[in-house]
Amino acid sequence: MQKLIIRGGGRVRGEISVQGAKNSALPLLAGCLLAGGETTLYNCPELSDVFAACRILSCLGCKCSFRNNTATINSSELTGCEVPDELMREMRSSIVFLGAVLGRTGECRLSFPGGCELGPRPIDMHLSALRQMGVRITEEHGILHCTCPRGLKGTKITLSFPSVGATENIMLAAALAEGETVIYNAAREPEICDLGDFLNACGAKISGCGSGTVIISGVKELHGCEYTVMSDRIAAATLMAAAAVTGGELSLLNARCADVQSVIPVFEQMGCGIFCCKDRIFISAKKPLKAVKTVRTMPYPGFPTDAQAVVMAALAKAEGASVMVENIFENRYRHVDELVRMGADIKTEGKVAVIQGVKELYGASVRAPDLRGGAALALAAMGAQGETSLENIKFIDRGYESIEKTLCAIGGDVRRVNV
Ligand code: EPZ
Repeated sequence: MQKLIIRGGGRVRGEISVQGAKNSALPLLAGCLLAGGETTLYNCPELSDVFAACRILSCLGCKCSFRNNTATINSSELTGCEVPDELMREMRSSIVFLGAVLGRTGECRLSFPGGCELGPRPIDMHLSALRQMGVRITEEHGILHCTCPRGLKGTKITLSFPSVGATENIMLAAALAEGETVIYNAAREPEICDLGDFLNACGAKISGCGSGTVIISGVKELHGCEYTVMSDRIAAATLMAAAAVTGGELSLLNARCADVQSVIPVFEQMGCGIFCCKDRIFISAKKPLKAVKTVRTMPYPGFPTDAQAVVMAALAKAEGASVMVENIFENRYRHVDELVRMGADIKTEGKVAVIQGVKELYGASVRAPDLRGGAALALAAMGAQGETSLENIKFIDRGYESIEKTLCAIGGDVRRVNV
């Protein structure tokens, strides 16, 4: 077990490069299964979730290597179609392997996925869509047995909610299916576009990514390729929140301004100065932060649910009362109690959180409840007086590369210690 010891009070400063996107790298790794050859992913973040995905690929017979943020996957010889329970439980996004394994082998056995406890994580939309594509799915003792005796068939699918994972699963299953698949009310996140671009680089025929209607014309086979994973827009939002909560200023390199268009106005309402050009974002928080009226999390291009916790950490010190409404997940305020232990004044009622800004936060012993909640606590500790001990940092390591190195590189005083 490890924890972070964070001494707050300093202002972040300098410049830092934004890591590759976890939520793109994971579906891209699943997509490597379809290539049937060697695929190289550059700018792949060094994360425990990425290594978990590589373990699933290896278990299916792929040869995987990872060095200097480059993942090389050879899926020429698959040896099976079963994902063991312990690997499925390691992360929620393991469900995205279902579409890829079915697309390549026509069969798949896996258990219900695990992941952060953000509330129930159903996969009903994934399964309903795959059934519409001709997949027979039976469930026995928590294990899903999926077969498609007559092969995957393209069809028209309307999602009741623009689910990111369901959209990705359908794209992966449809790439090698017979005929055309159209996904209506598809997720529009940038990670969907990255997956579409990656699959097209492998020879797929996908269009409409980002528009809400994705069209996939099935092809006979795909091939390996070299591809660069997009920049992580949530890591960028996290670094922007670090500047806000410490009253510092930061230059983010390898950032994609277009991907954070719904986050920038919130920081500007707080009083931060933001300047974007091409792949660089400059944020300055020299003035005392002001509360923002209401921040509602929405599917893209709305305000991202993954940025809710880290923005809340900044709002905890903003003058006045801010309101946040979490519309995507049922239980995504587990960081609030921990922030209150640091002196924050936050009350939640269902989907709504009311943050009454306080002058100071104070170091305390806190525990990361999940990935983004953990990041929020690290940022709050950076903006607090005194020392914070942050436990359960394995959650943070799922989505942030060497969080302590990153925060120290921008002026933080952060140590990782063994408990
Ligand atoms: C992806 O999760 C991301 N994870 C999440 O990031 C992100 O918060 C989420 O999309 C929303 O943007 C990865 O990409 C690996 P959804 P996913 O399917 O695909 C409900 C992080 O911190 N739903 O869009 O699981 C679901 O319960 C993580 O990096 C169903 O009801 O999200 C949730 O309430 C956390 N039935 C909502 O839809 C289904 O079949 C959004 O889920 C599928 C989803």
